Amino acid sequence: MRIDIITIFPEMFSGPFDHSIIKRAREKKLIEIHFHNPRNYPVNKYGSIDDYPYGGGAGMVMRIEPVAAILDPLLAERQYAEVIYTTPEGQPYKQAEANNLSTMDNIIILCGHYKGIDQRIRNIYVTKELSVGDYVLSGGELAAAIFTDTIVRLIPGVLGDETSALSDSFQDGLLSPPVYTKPLEYKGHKVPDILLSGNHRKIDEWRNEQAEKRTRERRPDLLE
Ligand code: ADE
Repeated sequence: MRIDIITIFPEMFSGPFDHSIIKRAREKKLIEIHFHNPRNYPVNKYGSIDDYPYGGGAGMVMRIEPVAAILDPLLAERQYAEVIYTTPEGQPYKQAEANNLSTMDNIIILCGHYKGIDQRIRNIYVTKELSVGDYVLSGGELAAAIFTDTIVRLIPGVLGDETSALSDSFQDGLLSPPVYTKPLEYKGHKVPDILLSGNHRKIDEWRNEQAEKRTRERRPDLLE
């Protein structure tokens, strides 16, 4: 899979993408991530990529040309399943969408920009608008990192244990049950006896019950 990320802050991704699972997926060539910076395509000799909004108002709006200069050649080079725009105005991002996107060959993520981008970029190029939640980030980069992380870990071969992505919270519509390891007792807090029973059928039953209980208590909306 190939992900092209359009951002004026590519350095913001070096933390999340250069460690742990995404780092390994890139090294194993299971995923290719490419960055494109609209700053490299200014509209004048002063380096401008944004301008004042028509009609007035606060904040600068990203112009079409620097983004089109990146998107046009990419779209001519290969088929992209989606051009995603990160915005609090988008559809709320869910695990089902991560599952769906992880099956695609190529996607583009266009990171949102302070007060927004010219609406015509969205009309012409964007196929999907996604939000990470009902709060406002300083830019789309953290959202793009979240989308990428959730997609990449689902690509076959990325996680060591193939079953572990399937047992994530949300994959079966439930939150995960509690887990325990050594020591058996810590300051009077014991590991539940059932987990020491060796009875795997009973242990599975207990884990299911705990997952349902947690979901009912914390996220009843997931059960509706
Ligand atoms: N950009 C700013 N806030 C955002 C959000 N909640 N989701 C996606 N992109 C954003």
